[in-house]
Amino acid sequence: MTSTAQTSPDYSSWPVRSVRSRELYDRARSVVPGGVVGQGRIYDPYPLYIDRADGAHVWDVDGNRYLDFHSAFGAVLLGHNHERIRTAMETCLRERGVTFAAAHPLEAELAERIVEMVPCAEMAVFSCTGSEATLHALRLARAVTGRQKVLKFEGNYHGWNEHLNWSVHFDAENEGGPAERPVPYAESAGVAQSARENVLVVQYNDTESLTRIVEEHRDELAAVIVEPMFFNAGVVLAEPGFLEQCRALCDAVGAILIFDEVITGFRVAPGGAQQALGVVPDLVTMGKAVANGMPISVLAGRRDLLENLSPTGPTFFSGTFYGHTLSVAAAVACTQFLSETPELYDQLDALGRRLRDGLREAAAEGDAQVSVESYGSVWSMHFGASSPRTYRDISKTAKTKNAGVQRDYQRWMLERGVYIHPHYMIRGYLTAAHNADHIDHVIESSRSFFAAHRSDLS
Ligand SMILES: Cc1ncc(COP(=O)(O)O)c(C=O)c1O
Repeated sequence: MTSTAQTSPDYSSWPVRSVRSRELYDRARSVVPGGVVGQGRIYDPYPLYIDRADGAHVWDVDGNRYLDFHSAFGAVLLGHNHERIRTAMETCLRERGVTFAAAHPLEAELAERIVEMVPCAEMAVFSCTGSEATLHALRLARAVTGRQKVLKFEGNYHGWNEHLNWSVHFDAENEGGPAERPVPYAESAGVAQSARENVLVVQYNDTESLTRIVEEHRDELAAVIVEPMFFNAGVVLAEPGFLEQCRALCDAVGAILIFDEVITGFRVAPGGAQQALGVVPDLVTMGKAVANGMPISVLAGRRDLLENLSPTGPTFFSGTFYGHTLSVAAAVACTQFLSETPELYDQLDALGRRLRDGLREAAAEGDAQVSVESYGSVWSMHFGASSPRTYRDISKTAKTKNAGVQRDYQRWMLERGVYIHPHYMIRGYLTAAHNADHIDHVIESSRSFFAAHRSDLS
């Protein structure tokens, strides 16, 4: 049965030869909504179907090769198909098998590595996705405090779970209530409205409102959850004192501080943002880069909290694929590699700075109004905006005024062999497989874009 509700996209506007992607799209969308598994994979007018990936490149099914800056939403840190990870998985497959859903020796090894690397981690457990880890973290915080409310920040994304999928990608000015007292906005149809009463929302970097709202709810607040580097809005950094105040307020009212390091964990430093910034949470959630692309997430933190998870405590924790053998084998190999190769972070920092400085210079040369930000291996560009410090700074422009130019930029780059995630903002992740030539290619391609679009961008 095929759907009759589909519109016919304008196929002619696609900038690269992609006949096979189009065929796959036509086939897939009659059995998969929109032809993609999840909204994060759409591309207008149709997605490029990726056939394979190696090092810094991906190839689509038409054989086009792209320098990949999507890096699987940042999950790939060492480069695609990294030899150490592949070997660990091949060995695991050959010698152990796929999965047992039973305790196995690699779990303790991975937990020990995480305890060694991540400042707040005294114990660790594993689930599969970031969304699961944040849900378990929040449930644990509720269990130990006996309270229900959670405070999150506008634009911070903590996955799709009912309790945290609020005020993420939305038109904050029209849908988010007053800036100093935002109201939660459901990210999705079907989110339980009953969850709303337990969600408090504050703007990122708004220390004053944060302090006031925590004080108002001091006896009801189970947890504050925060992206310690706000990468879901590009690269937005916590201002001095903001995370410290999160820490101090949680201590003052007896709430649990959760750092959501699903992106930053292992990517910005071996011990994540908490190591880089020197603020230590009670609990941390990590995912993505821990296994260089294999699905696994981590909940770690204080021993006295983690011991409240089952079986030592009353807080349910279990999943058929939790601690999946192949993923844990990949994570052991990845964390081992990261510990042995500390110079990797300097290398990524240097590449990130080269990219940021080169893009800024190219933008200035073309009189382009674009803010280019980076931290370590993560970079972002916001057309028409100055350096953002809150989600509202980009929500004003990203989805409306600049949607056209961002799309044009992404296509321009595709034509020049550069794959950037088709998001409403430009955000990219460097990996250990990227080199200076790759970076210079992005800078030169962007320079020509800025020059060609001078009148639209100034
Ligand atoms: C900071 C953060 N937390 C949680 C998640 C959810 O992770 P997953 O997509 O693995 O469920 C994401 C995903 O992008 C994220 O960026």
